[in-house]
Parts: sequence; C-alpha cells; structure tokens
Amino acid sequence: MNLIRLAAAVSAAFLLAACGHHEQTAAATPTAAAAPAAAANASPATLKLFQQTCHNCHAVPGTGAPQAGDAQAWAPRLAQGRDTLLDHTINGYKGMPPMGTCTQCTEQDFVALIEYMSGAQLK
Ligand code: HEC
Repeated sequence: MNLIRLAAAVSAAFLLAACGHHEQTAAATPTAAAAPAAAANASPATLKLFQQTCHNCHAVPGTGAPQAGDAQAWAPRLAQGRDTLLDHTINGYKGMPPMGTCTQCTEQDFVALIEYMSGAQLK
C-alpha cells in the first residue's frame, strides 16, 4: 500500500516537473526540486482532488495560475499568509475562480492542495 502510494506521488511529481519547465523563470533547479518534495507529503485524496480541479490551471502554463511545483511563482503568494491565501481560494481572486472549482473541498483540503502546489507548509 505504501509503495503504491509513493509510486503515485512520484509519477505525479514527474508530470508536474515536466509542466513546470515551460515557465520562463530562471529557477529551473528549485522548481524541479520542489515538486517531488511536495508530492511526497500529499495524500492520495489530495492528489485526486488536485487532478480533478486545480490541475486544470495550476499545471497548465499560460493560464496565469502559479504552477504546481514552481517555488518561485509561489513565494510572493505564500508571503501573503495563510488567511489571505484561503480567502482568495474560497472567495476567488482575479482569474482564480471561487473554491478553484472544487465545490466539495473543505478548508483542510485547500490547505493541503496549496501546500502540495507550493511545496511549502502554510503557517
Ligand atoms: C480556472 C483556473 C483555475 C483553477 C481551476 C484553480 N485556480 Fe487557483 N488560480 C488561478 C489563477 C489564474 C490564479 C492567479 C490569480 C492572479 O493572481 O491573477 C490562481 C491563484 C491561486 C492562488 C494564489 C492566490 C493569491 O492570493 O495569490 C491559490 C492559493 C490558488 N489559486 C489555489 C487553488 C486551488 C487550491 C485550486 C483547486 C482547488 C485552484 N486554485 C484551482 C486559476 C485557477
């Protein structure tokens, strides 16, 4: 069970890393490093929610969304703090739709999803 879970997380991380390379940032190395670290901490349930919703923009370069695994893109977002990030996630913010289209997601899910995409722990 644990091996299967790890394999799923690792393959998701590779997919994310591949998408991240389209970003025109100088931080190729931190980007590649962030995704596997984040993926290792994401539960199968979080990964599933991600694939169903956030993935549509946060793993599609050109959508304007900070890409999953792109630590540089997430840094200024994270600097706003947990409350602001959750407010923007739940109520929407510019091109970010309310609840990121995940109507069944709980606040805990959103925290896990943001931590997964940013590769950082929300404080
Ligand atoms: C339809 C596309 C789309 C989907 C689906 C989507 N997002 Fe976003 N998201 C965006 C865009 C675009 C931005 C950047 C908005 C801006 O700052 O202009 C963004 C920004 C964010 C931010 C940063 C907000 C800030 O204050 O800087 C968070 C957090 C976020 N999204 C979380 C999520 C989560 C969690 C999901 C899945 C449940 C999700 N998003 C799904 C498009 C999307």
